[in-house]
Amino acid sequence: MAQIFSRAADTWFRVAMLVIVGGLIGVFIVAMLLERSDYQTGRGWTVDQPVPFSHQHHAGALQIDCRYCHAGVERSARAGFPPTHTCMSCHSQLWTQAEMLAPVRRSLEEDRPLRWNRVIKLPDYVYFQHDVHVQSGVGCVSCHGQVDTMPLLHKAEPLSMSFCLECHRDPAPRLQPRETVADMAWHTDEDRRHLGERLMREYRVDPAGLTSCSVCHR
Ligand code: HEC
Ligand code: HEC
Ligand code: HEC
Ligand code: HEC
Ligand code: HEC
Repeated sequence: MAQIFSRAADTWFRVAMLVIVGGLIGVFIVAMLLERSDYQTGRGWTVDQPVPFSHQHHAGALQIDCRYCHAGVERSARAGFPPTHTCMSCHSQLWTQAEMLAPVRRSLEEDRPLRWNRVIKLPDYVYFQHDVHVQSGVGCVSCHGQVDTMPLLHKAEPLSMSFCLECHRDPAPRLQPRETVADMAWHTDEDRRHLGERLMREYRVDPAGLTSCSVCHR
């Protein structure tokens, strides 16, 4: 074959190809790492709130049940946020002068709800309901972590597609009795799979089809 390029040009061509291919692989690896990183999923991040509300104090030390403030969680898709009068059921007597609670008192006086900023938010194209999970014996802790130890709330689990699917493929060992879903300290000495399989029969949980796309994207 005729020599079209000089030998030097050929070498440069090879070096350039190596750099380009190497660069592409590098970009790909960085993209893969970012995809899984806490930066991408928002795991561990906190958010500014109108009042620095502490779950550690209220759900941990004071042992207030999650459902006292997130009343929708058992019966509807959304857990919901507590209305101001829920806070004032205690704070009309407790810490009534605290500067920190001024926005709560103002909200009551002006009859305007506090605007809590969301810490956890799925993209709009994902369908999610709380009630099915809570009724099937999936504890808050499975998806939100040890909320009762959080001074400021953060996202404890990635809540990514693979996170959801991991359980949807095999829910049994992750289920707990329905009445304990809000109990962050619940544990059992019974074998989790054994217990879970019994609960699945009792609650009529049918895992067949739970991984099909239309369950979460409808
Ligand atoms: C005294 C009321 C109260 C109790 C009890 C309570 N919460 Fe909350 N929760 C709030 C308020 C207020 C917010 C909004 C401010 C914030 O993010 O900290 C919130 C936010 C959250 C969020 C973040 C939602 C989002 O997307 O922003 C989760 C998750 C949550 N709570 C779970 C729980 C769990 C689990 C429990 C029980 C262990 C619990 N909460 C107990 C009042 C309460
Ligand atoms: C069942 C009673 C009760 C309810 C309901 C309640 N609190 Fe409290 N809160 C307390 C007590 C008691 C303290 C003092 C905690 C301490 O210092 O150990 C406190 C403390 C606080 C503080 C001071 C900082 C801290 O965490 O120590 C803030 C801010 C606060 N609460 C906000 C709220 C908001 C906002 C709500 C409604 C979403 C709310 N609380 C609902 C009992 C309650
Ligand atoms: C199977 C996983 C899962 C379980 C179990 C779960 N959550 Fe959630 N939670 C989520 C997801 C996902 C979101 C975000 C929903 C969205 O953006 O549409 C969320 C959002 C929330 C929010 C804020 C928005 C709202 O009103 O829905 C609160 C508050 C909350 N969860 C509380 C709880 C409490 C309390 C429990 C236990 C009784 C619980 N969650 C159990 C996954 C879960
Ligand atoms: C720890 C286990 C677990 C995790 C994590 C989990 N799920 Fe589920 N999910 C279940 C169980 C159990 C059911 C109930 C199945 C039944 O009743 O047959 C369910 C049911 C559902 C349903 C209702 C299906 C129907 O037939 O109506 C949707 C939608 C859903 N999950 C979405 C999600 C999404 C989105 C996530 C991630 C953010 C998620 N789930 C995370 C266990 C889990
Ligand atoms: C159990 C719930 C669940 C099922 C089943 C599910 N997805 Fe998802 N999917 C999610 C969640 C949650 C996200 C959002 C992840 C995030 O926030 O980054 C998502 C994101 C996506 C995205 C956006 C790009 C990405 O990867 O983030 C695509 C595309 C997608 N899903 C396709 C599918 C297809 C195709 C199927 C069926 C094979 C499927 N999903 C089944 C929960 C589910």
